[in-house]
Amino acid sequence: MLTLQLLLVKFGIRFVGVKLGILGLGTVGTGTVQLLQDSAGRHPLLRDVEIYRVGVRSLDKPRAVKIPDAVLTTDLEAIVNDPQVDIVVEVIGGLEPARSLILKAIENGKHVVSANKAVISRFGDEIFTAANQAGVYVMLEAAVGGGIPVIQPLKQSLSVNRIHTVTGIVNGTTNYILTRMQTEGSSFNDVLADAQKLGYAEADPSADVDGLDAADKIAILASLAFGGRIKLQNVYCEGIRQVSKTDIAYADKLGFVIKLLAIAKRVNLPSITPSPHLPISVRVHPTLVPKTHPLASINGVYNAILVEGEPIGQVMFFGPGAGAGATASAVSSDILNLVAVLQASTTTPNPLLTCGHQDYCEITPSEELISRFYSRFITKDQPGVIGKLGTCFGKYGVSLESVVQTGFQGELAEIVVVTHDVREGDFRQALAEIQTLEAIDSIPSLLRVL
Ligand code: HSE
Repeated sequence: MLTLQLLLVKFGIRFVGVKLGILGLGTVGTGTVQLLQDSAGRHPLLRDVEIYRVGVRSLDKPRAVKIPDAVLTTDLEAIVNDPQVDIVVEVIGGLEPARSLILKAIENGKHVVSANKAVISRFGDEIFTAANQAGVYVMLEAAVGGGIPVIQPLKQSLSVNRIHTVTGIVNGTTNYILTRMQTEGSSFNDVLADAQKLGYAEADPSADVDGLDAADKIAILASLAFGGRIKLQNVYCEGIRQVSKTDIAYADKLGFVIKLLAIAKRVNLPSITPSPHLPISVRVHPTLVPKTHPLASINGVYNAILVEGEPIGQVMFFGPGAGAGATASAVSSDILNLVAVLQASTTTPNPLLTCGHQDYCEITPSEELISRFYSRFITKDQPGVIGKLGTCFGKYGVSLESVVQTGFQGELAEIVVVTHDVREGDFRQALAEIQTLEAIDSIPSLLRVL
């Protein structure tokens, strides 16, 4: 069934007001509503989005966002059947009723945005077959890596490459636990109990610590990277329960950290003739990662996905793998893409490909910028030089974090100064005056400190 908007687009008429039906107002739903309700400074297309219906379990629950009563409903079926709704945003999680609601939305000709890796990894075959038949899109940027844009890059920017391997740290809970085991020398059970107390791990942690969440995610990534569907039962999966602090300590001594890696890779066995269509392996397991490897430094709840292909080489995506704001960013980017699709037509160019702005950005003059500075002075080796430097900096409001005399160059002394955060204009004025001091020979280095 075509919505009014689809019909308008078909006839080349531009419109505003893409109507969203959001299923679920938990962490992700709330974050998404917050982002969409506060569109200033974001992509202008977001202003064309109307939060038309939001489906919740209870109307009485206190909410972190203001939503008119008329928008809220407990009837989720009614949202996916409402002819006014253009895009259904499924953020209820779990398998059912999420799967049925997605399929119903598709059947009704609606585009779908889902953050639900479990539904996509288990029922992707059914969902995407239905979507292709109905001529609608199912978008899933938030399903893997939270706020990290990785789905769209794999589908578009990187798809011209022949991908060899996708290696991810895609579960924040297990990465948090392993990082703490590594840094504190603690056991899995102690860190897990603490992580549960702090809200970093669920009361039932199995989906995370047994690797199931990571398996869902790598199945999705593998499917995109290697251009074929993946049966979840073919993903080898081992969690982190058996990783001991002893193994972490030995690994450390040998130059490794232990990470739960999700790996999808083309398998080049000696018996197989090399070809771009080699079979793949998809697996999740704790792995000793050399400390020099790009994934070794991904710590805490962060996620990262390393994609290796030809001709690009290595590309790594890093960022927050969960959380309201991060996931809302991913969900809203899918919404944005769909708004662009709905608005593009044969006569109206794709608003995401055209240059949508004419005005210039205002650039702050560098003297107004705030930064820390490192500066190295070559001075005469005489009493009071450091005092004179300090007085000059003080005169222009430049506060010093450290001053060290690092050595001598013949008759001359070498002094290194690091400032606190200062206005660059003030620092430069102080420096100009210091340069005129009789005791100063030269200022060979001036660098900014992050
Ligand atoms: N439970 C997941 C994790 C976040 O710990 O990374 C949602 O995908």
